[in-house]
Amino acid sequence: MPASAHYTLSFRAISPSWPLLGHPRHLALPIVSCPPLDSNPNAAPTGVLPSQCEKLPFPGTLYLPSYDTFWVVKSWDLEPSLGDGVTPFSVTSYGFGGLASLPSSCEVEQWNSDDPIPRKKLEESVAGAHGLLCRLTDRVDQKLLDAAGANLRVISTLSVGVDHLALDEIKKRGIRVGYTPGVLTDATAELAVSLLLTTCRRLPEAIEEVKNGGWDSWKPLWMCGYGLSQSTVGIVGLGRIGQAIARRLKPFGVQRFLYTGRQPRPQEAAEFQAEFVPIAQLAAESDFIVVSCSLTPATRGLCSKEFFQNMKNTAVFINISRGDVVNQDDLYQALTSGQLAAAGLDVTTPEPLPPSHPLLTLKNCVILPHIGSATYKTRNTMALLAANNLLAGLRGETMPSELKL
Ligand code: NDP
Ligand code: DGY
Repeated sequence: MPASAHYTLSFRAISPSWPLLGHPRHLALPIVSCPPLDSNPNAAPTGVLPSQCEKLPFPGTLYLPSYDTFWVVKSWDLEPSLGDGVTPFSVTSYGFGGLASLPSSCEVEQWNSDDPIPRKKLEESVAGAHGLLCRLTDRVDQKLLDAAGANLRVISTLSVGVDHLALDEIKKRGIRVGYTPGVLTDATAELAVSLLLTTCRRLPEAIEEVKNGGWDSWKPLWMCGYGLSQSTVGIVGLGRIGQAIARRLKPFGVQRFLYTGRQPRPQEAAEFQAEFVPIAQLAAESDFIVVSCSLTPATRGLCSKEFFQNMKNTAVFINISRGDVVNQDDLYQALTSGQLAAAGLDVTTPEPLPPSHPLLTLKNCVILPHIGSATYKTRNTMALLAANNLLAGLRGETMPSELKL
């Protein structure tokens, strides 16, 4: 067997440079990776282990969450935690030599770049695949499913949002879907709170004033914004992320939480004494509105002209959900006509937003490039979960996080 054949026995370089297409002959764990074949197989890797790895339900298998390569590790010694979820480890035995003897075989085709795979390349590469590991930038529609063909059994997305997947068509074809709920909730909620504070206290404007000489003196009304203390916060979608946002905002002295959704969630709402209200009431009574719902046919365009007209002209609007929940033309009108004070968006339509977009000309609109879950630790954990979803799905087992279709 040529040396390179070893590579086809394993998932190599499972990383955010996905999508990754699995063509299994048969599968068994652990088969996540091996050291580069040109390195000394006796030189055990060392590194740091995010604490979540220990919690993944795959005893006996440890993944080194490097951006380049994942390794199968058979045993390891954990060292005292450095705090912040970081535990150093040294590997005592790992699975390079053992890989070839595994009764596993999985051909992997990988797009080896942090940039998205070109559509045409994806359509070509997916043909005949049994599994597809994709990102939210890969639209999995009828055309792509047709290009994949009848082999495709599992789609695993490196996201909690699934609006890029044609779910009806996927269900019709009996394909299972894995996604990454929960593991990105904290990071996204942190970002949402950062964006809210950045927007309501006008931080980008203030920083710019310091740089451009606009700061000529301390003045009573200059650069004033709005604060959270004694405020009313409205949450559109009190799901995992919505609750995590409310939990973080509560200690700022928020007086009242309102929320909306398809139905009341009394159990979750109790923690914040949040009141379930119609969306028009939420718009009218909130000082801050945070959109954290999923994008569905029902939420597409939910925040449009009427919604913004209902808002207080001192209110601040934040969206971390998906750009299409907001009608951006209506938002622009609302921001320029003084219907609301400011907006902070982590998500837009399209993404990336062209630098010439009118919203980018507004001082009262803060726009981030969809970085809600962008911490190293979170992205690594998402990567592990997505890989494990794919592998479990291909083996016909329960996935760690399967979307119920
Ligand atoms: P959850 O499924 O826990 O929450 C989704 C929420 O959407 C629920 O509260 C649900 O409320 C609400 N919702 C669904 N339909 C409607 C509707 N018609 N009107 C109002 N609310 C509705 O998901 P997560 O909290 O984990 O994630 C939410 C979304 O956040 C993701 O789908 C994704 O789009 C986005 N996201 C963005 C990130 C970023 O980087 N900016 C990072 C991660 C996620 P109910 O069920 O009560 O109706
Ligand atoms: C998601 O997971 O849906 C986010 O948008 C990116 O983490």
